Amino acid sequence: MTSRAAGRLAVLASGTGSNAMAVADAVEDGRIAAPLACVLVDRTDAPVIARARARGIDVVLADRAAHASAEDHERAVVTELLNRNVAWVVLAGYMRICGPRFLRAYEGRALNVHPSLLPAFPGRNAIGDALEAGVAATGVTVHFIDAGVDTGPIVSQEAVAIRPGDDHASLAARIHDVEHRLLPDATARLVAGHLVHPYLHLDQELLPT
Ligand code: GRF
Repeated sequence: MTSRAAGRLAVLASGTGSNAMAVADAVEDGRIAAPLACVLVDRTDAPVIARARARGIDVVLADRAAHASAEDHERAVVTELLNRNVAWVVLAGYMRICGPRFLRAYEGRALNVHPSLLPAFPGRNAIGDALEAGVAATGVTVHFIDAGVDTGPIVSQEAVAIRPGDDHASLAARIHDVEHRLLPDATARLVAGHLVHPYLHLDQELLPT
C-alpha cells in the first residue's frame, strides 16, 4: 500500500497554461503538498509546453493528432500518468472529454476549472456565451471530473461581475485572476485529503491502477 502523501500530481493542459503555472507556483511554494510529476499536453503547438519547460517541469506530450481515435489517445494519457505514479490530476484548460478509462483511474482524484458559474454556460465558449446572454455576472467553477461536459460535482465557485463595456479580453482577464486563486486552493485541499467526492467511495490511500 502506498500512502496518500506519496501521491504525485499532474496537470493536463491544451493551451496557454496560465492555470498550469498557477498550480506549479503553489506546488513550488508549498501550498500544494504534492510533487508535480508533469504537465501533460495534448497538442504540439500549445504555448504551455514552452512555459513549463522553461521552469524545469517535465512535459509529457500526448499528441491527440498522433492517435487514431479518442480511445487510443486516452489509453496513452492514462498510461503516462500511471507510469509516473500520478495520484491526482488537475485539468487546467484541457480541451478534451475524459472517457471511461480515465475515470476508472482518476474519478474523485481529478478536478477541472471552468470559466463560468456552472451549471450556467458549460462548453468551450463560456465567456463569450455569458457576454452574449447579457447576464450581470459570470464566474469560475472548480469541479470534480465526470463523464459529462463540465458537469461533475462542484467544489468551489466565485462570481465575477460583468461591467458595462466589458469585452471578451477584459472579462477573461478578471476571470483568469479568480481561476489562478481557486484552482490551486482546491488542488491543495484535494491532495491533503480535505476534499472528498460526494458519492464515490474512493480508497484515498491507494494509488490508482
Ligand atoms: C481557462 O479559462 C479555463 O477555465 C478553461 O480554459 C482556460 C485555460 O486557460 N477551461 P489557461 O490555458 O490556463 O491560460
